[in-house]
Amino acid sequence: MKEALEKRLEEIVKKLTDKEVNTLLSIPKDISKGDFTSNVAFQIGKSSGKNPMDVAREITAEFASMSSELSLEKVEAAAPGFINFYLSTQSLSENLQQVLKSPEKVAGIRNLAKYPKAIVEYSSPNIAKPFTVGHFRSTIIGDAIANLLEAVGYKVYRDNHLGDWGTQFGKQIYAIKTWGNEQEIEKSENPVKNLVALYVKFHEEAEKDPELEERAREWFKKLEDGDPEARRLWQKCIDWSFKEFDRIYKELGVSFTENGGRGYGEAFFEGKMEPIIKELEEKGLVKTDKGAKLVFFPNDKYPPLMVIKQDGATLYATRDLATDKFRLEHYGKDILVINEVGMEQSLYFKQLFETEYMLGWYTPGQRVHVGHGLFRFKEGKMSTRKGNVIWLDEVLDEAEKRAQNLSKGSLGIAKEVAMGALKWNDLKRSAHMDVTFDWDEILTMNGNSGPYVQYAYTRTQSVLKKADNNVILGSAATPESNSKKDSGQARMTDVLSPDYTPSSEELNLLRKLVQFAPTVEEAVEKYAPNVVCEYLFELAQMFNNFYQKHRILNAEKDVEKRFRLGLTEGVGIVLKQGLNLLGIQAPEKM
Ligand code: ARG
Repeated sequence: MKEALEKRLEEIVKKLTDKEVNTLLSIPKDISKGDFTSNVAFQIGKSSGKNPMDVAREITAEFASMSSELSLEKVEAAAPGFINFYLSTQSLSENLQQVLKSPEKVAGIRNLAKYPKAIVEYSSPNIAKPFTVGHFRSTIIGDAIANLLEAVGYKVYRDNHLGDWGTQFGKQIYAIKTWGNEQEIEKSENPVKNLVALYVKFHEEAEKDPELEERAREWFKKLEDGDPEARRLWQKCIDWSFKEFDRIYKELGVSFTENGGRGYGEAFFEGKMEPIIKELEEKGLVKTDKGAKLVFFPNDKYPPLMVIKQDGATLYATRDLATDKFRLEHYGKDILVINEVGMEQSLYFKQLFETEYMLGWYTPGQRVHVGHGLFRFKEGKMSTRKGNVIWLDEVLDEAEKRAQNLSKGSLGIAKEVAMGALKWNDLKRSAHMDVTFDWDEILTMNGNSGPYVQYAYTRTQSVLKKADNNVILGSAATPESNSKKDSGQARMTDVLSPDYTPSSEELNLLRKLVQFAPTVEEAVEKYAPNVVCEYLFELAQMFNNFYQKHRILNAEKDVEKRFRLGLTEGVGIVLKQGLNLLGIQAPEKM
């Protein structure tokens, strides 16, 4: 529907002004302002010096003759120059039919993939260090973005850029060998705790005896040179860390597709960095300063990026460059690459991307950093440095406990509610914004929360189930609807009979359903899952409002009942699809 309107609008603008403009339709914030709105009259007004309102009227007049062909009820010019489109009830009802016919896939979604493939890299925790709330945010937001890209036709690769390499492993290995007990760590419920304690111990001891730094350097050198003992302990650190990571990923229902499901960590690119430095040198992009190598940017747009340290060692940035070169070679040049990493690395990613453009590897638009803000706790900003680390396992457990009080259902349902609540809290606002962690807000049943939306979904399902158990639909039911009864739900064709005039609550819901596909598309264009959250929250509120005002199962007339059941089912389908795109389960009951 949106596409056909856009096409017409473009043609009309071309005819009236002989100009190409960006005629995209958007969804009005206020549902009473129509189903779609265009600001094209402002664009034309600006370039031609005409009054936008006059332009809007001209365009509106052109549409008058084709309303019925485009299934429009009306097109309106609204001050100071908007053009608002109202779909006919008939086409709103057709959209509902489409939704009912497409329980698996978002009805009417377009293929928007700008490249055939996309890599979404998220989570990326560090080995032998705690999985932080930052990694938690990255995991949730990255997973949602990957799902959204899939929905619009990208072939998506899910990667995890583990921090599994670096000089800190020299310290870690020295500490394990000196003060650690491998068997104890092996048996530990949370080996990362032991490793962190050993790491802290190293720093305490090194303050007293600076010699230790030298020992650590030696161990890292050994690790680099492939010394079996160093490699063995390093691998142990990875396996121990995954004991924790796997548990978290499993709870969250998140996974990765690359490198056997573990993702390509930094260590994978060890040995792949020399050619990168060479290429940078050949292309004249690095300057050497006392042995260190740095990339400088035109007009000093950004501070220089170091790619080789004075002592010749490689860095995080060197490994990122090797990663992105590998991606081109491994997946092909036609690829979108998204890194979901905290906002504090924004400047770094600008430097990295710019370097990659200068190298001619990628073009702008192909590299995207989606940054997330900090997690704050009601008690104040949390600090990992002082040892008061937040252990995510504990947060997940606590969420489950609280969710159990909320939903009287089974443990399985409590888990779905708990994870839904935590994820929603992370997704409901723009990723770059900080999040205040507040249990009451996360698990509220009366506001913008995961459980609120999940609950609206369970309502739709309980109505449909009851409808199935009762006499369904009476005499007005169409033969198709009866034959579909075995699908377990009241899926029907022609749910809206011409004899029935929907109420305003019903019309609003129909309108809201039309917005679903464009909303998903907008979320992809902005790499912003919060757009979907906003939509689902509004839809859930509208449904609750309808549910309170109207009788569904005990509706007076059959046409009423049939329509309301169809509408309820449509809302259920969209709520579930939307939640699933966000990585959130839609429980059947709570
Ligand atoms: N391991 C890093 C950290 O914890 C995040 C890695 C992000 N990804 C990347 N390609 N640099 O800060």
